[in-house]
Order: sequence, then C-alpha cells, then structure tokens
Amino acid sequence: MSETARELLGEIEAFLALFQVTPTKFGVDAVNDGHLVAKLRKGGSVTLKTADRVRAYMASERSEQPAAPRQAAASHRVLLIIGGGIAAYKCLDLIRRLRERGIAVRAVMTKAAQQFVTPLSVGALTSDRVFTELFDLDDEREIGHIRLSREADLIVVAPATADLLAKMAGGHADDLASCVLMATDKPVLIAPAMNPRMWLHPATRRNVTQLKADGIALVGPNIGEMAERGEAGPGRLAEVPELVEAIIGMLAPLVQKGGGNLPLVGRHVLVTSGPTHEPIDPVRYIANRSSGKQGSAIAAEAAALGARVTLVSGPTQIADPPGVEVVHIESAREMLEAVRRALPADIAIFAAAVADWRVATRSDEKIKKAAGQGAPRLELVENPDILKTIAAEKGGRRPKLVIGFAAETQNVIEFAKKKRRAKGADWIVANDVSPETGIMGGDRNAVHVISEDGVESWPDLDKGEVARRLMARAANYFAERTAPV
Ligand SMILES: Cc1cc2nc3c(=O)[nH]c(=O)nc-3n(C[C@H](O)[C@H](O)[C@H](O)COP(=O)(O)O)c2cc1C
Repeated sequence: MSETARELLGEIEAFLALFQVTPTKFGVDAVNDGHLVAKLRKGGSVTLKTADRVRAYMASERSEQPAAPRQAAASHRVLLIIGGGIAAYKCLDLIRRLRERGIAVRAVMTKAAQQFVTPLSVGALTSDRVFTELFDLDDEREIGHIRLSREADLIVVAPATADLLAKMAGGHADDLASCVLMATDKPVLIAPAMNPRMWLHPATRRNVTQLKADGIALVGPNIGEMAERGEAGPGRLAEVPELVEAIIGMLAPLVQKGGGNLPLVGRHVLVTSGPTHEPIDPVRYIANRSSGKQGSAIAAEAAALGARVTLVSGPTQIADPPGVEVVHIESAREMLEAVRRALPADIAIFAAAVADWRVATRSDEKIKKAAGQGAPRLELVENPDILKTIAAEKGGRRPKLVIGFAAETQNVIEFAKKKRRAKGADWIVANDVSPETGIMGGDRNAVHVISEDGVESWPDLDKGEVARRLMARAANYFAERTAPV
C-alpha cells in the first residue's frame, strides 16, 4: 500500500468515525466510487487526483459541522496507547466520545498502529500532537515517556494487541508505548482485541492472568464476529460505549480522590441486570432476550457519579463495567441471594429481566429423548419476586430509593403504575419491549418514569443517556432530602 493511500485511509477512517457514516455512503458522496474504502482497506492504491478530491470533500463536510469539543480541564486526562490491531480505527470514535464527555485524550501510537490509522487522524481528533517515538530528542530532553505518564490520570491501551499484552506481562520497554507502561504509577485499563485463536492461546492466557495479578484492569474482549470473514469467538474489542463507560468508571474514583464534586460519593448503589437462566437439566435452561446493556450502563453511570456500585448480573455477552463490583449469577434465586448479601444500599435499581417461573424439579441428568414417549412435561413454579422482597425489607435494610423496571408489551403506563403500588417500589422505569421496538437487546430505550409525583416520559434515547438521566434524577432525590434547611 502506498504512503498516500495509507494516509488517506487514516483520514477517511477518522472522518467516518466522526460523522458516523458508512464507507459506501462516503464513497458515493465523495468520488462516486462505493468501493473506495473497501479497496483501500484491502491495501489498494489511489491516484493523487482522487486523494485530492476526497480530501476536498471531507474538508467541505467538516466546515459545515460544529467544532469538536475543546480539551477538558486537566482533572480528566486519559493517555490512550493505540496498538497495531485491525480494531485501531475504533479509537477514532473512542477519542471523540471521550472528548464529548469532557475527558482530554493524548495518544501514543505503536509503529504497527500507524499501519492501521495515521497519527494525522488521531491528532486531529485529540487536538494534540501524537507521540510515536521513544528516541525523540525534543521529548526526551524532558524525559518524555515519564512526562506522558505523569500528565495523565489513567492510561488506556486500546486495542491491546497480543504483542502488547506479552510485552506488558514480561516487562519489556523497547518502544515508547511499552516504556510508558513500564514507567507509570497510574492506573492502567486494557482493552484487548485479537483473533480468537490468539486470545485463547496459552501464552495470551498466561499474560492476561499475570496482568490481572499486577492490578491491570480489563474491559472486554467481547464475543462476536471478527474482521476476518467467517471467524467468530472471543476477541472483539469492547464496543466504544462500553470502553467509554469503563474509562469513566475508573476515572470517577480518581477524580474523587482529587476533590472532585461527585453527587453520589459515599453512597452504595445496587443494580441488577441481564436475564436469568432457569435450569431444566444440566444442559438446558429457560432464558429471555435481555442483553444487560441498560443495567450495565446504569452501574457505570452510578460509579461515574462517585458511588460504590454492586452489579448483580445474569449471564450476558457484554464486558463488566470496571470500577464496579460485579457478582455473576445464573438463576433468580441466586440473584436474590446475591442482592441480599450486597445490602445495605442507598439506592437499588432492579433492571434485570428475572424469569417469573422456574422448572419445579430440575433434572440432575440430561433428559433423554426416548422413542414413543413424546415430549416431557415441564411443571413450572413461581420464582421469588426480588423487587417486592427488597422493597419490603425492614429495619433499615430497605434501600432509601427502590427503582424497579417494568418491561411490557401493551398498556405500558397502566401496568407500570399498578406494578409500582403492588411491589412497593418508589419509582418504576417502564418500557415497551414489543419486538418491533428493538429495545430488548438493542442500544436504545424509550422509557416512562413513574413515581408518586406522576409520569415522566422520556424521548427515545441511547441506553447510556437513559442511565445518565436516571442517575442524575436519583442524585437529585438525595440532594433534595439532605439539603440544609
Ligand atoms: C491486517 C493485520 C491485522 C492484525 N490485527 C491484529 C489484532 O487485531 N490483534 C493483534 O493482537 N494483532 C493483530 N495483528 C498483528 C499485530 O499487528 C502485530 O503483532 C504487531 O507486532 C503488534 O504491534 P504492537 O503491539 O506494537 O502494536 C494484525 C496484523 C495484521 C497484518
């Protein structure tokens, strides 16, 4: 791939991340070539004339958009180390999303990372110079690798390649990225991304175990499809919203230590999330389509507001939010037990989709299909009602604010009002989970918040924004009750 093509691809990737458009749309609008990006990504070349036309197109589009947010105050500073993986392009969106949240980002790129995105694109989004060289005379006069670490609150490695994990675990320091990581005393969050075989390789397993023992926090990787056609498994970079949540979850306590004003500092927030699995026999279970995204976003947001957070989660495919204590359970009864153990809490939010019923007697052996005997009959019994049980707790064990979620497919507000009274909850967050809404498992949510003050209907929002509004409302609830008279 020529230098021109590589640089242009980096700029296009930054542009796509910035404007959230697909490569095809981009190609049609820019050069009437829907395959330009695909060709460049495969290592194809480009003429100077086309490159100029594409750059002119991007410049004109940019000039119509509002400027990117300015760098934040120095109290939220992330040093982002970008490794050389195929997912490096997602860093461009990550930088933008962090800066939207007022977090300043400075980037270090490995040599390999520069094969995937250019320092030019990264620098355009960080509004800062990008650091690539260990032996840089200007930087090293001031011992640049030490300064880079000192001037950050948190170091994030994304994508963390198998190679970077090995270097970190082994204590190597032969380039700027690894040298910074060796020289830092700041918290480090890594977001691995690689082919499933690389992730499952015994060497990577050993390195990850070592890094966890060294106190390094991990987000992801997720299970899913790889860039390589037909490949799937564990190794996908955590999605950008998950990375943002993870970063905020780690920054919050650091800022708190530095005297930041966080409304939920000193409070314990308990959140349940995800589906439950109710076993039929050792291999089969009853489940539902809950993804756990909403509960996880709420837990991350509570942590970002300074709370100590316990997340009791059923089985999901998403990464644990860092900065949150996560208790993994499977069944409704396990969830209730974990919730009880986590009490007392100031706020309890029950976002999990708990199965209403379980099989009366789970078989210890796999139920066999026998010829002529027909299908087995499953007798169902009711599961404990976790929301109702905790809302009825006595002796100071009832959380001061109990919030339940109601997933309905009809008469949403009516049913939710009844549910609030029947369960003894303070608020119910109700949503319509009919399949056509795409809410169950999706990234967006349209909710009604029902309290004794009435019904507040929020517009269609992404689940992160629902979490932000809900936790801001909960923080206000406490602020009003503790305000000096
Ligand atoms: C097209 C391509 C894609 C790659 N994707 C990944 C990846 O996703 N994860 C990974 O660990 N390595 C990946 N590699 C291998 C790394 O680029 C290689 O190990 C490199 O030395 C990593 O350097 P770094 O850790 O200093 O960034 C890829 C290599 C190529 C050629």
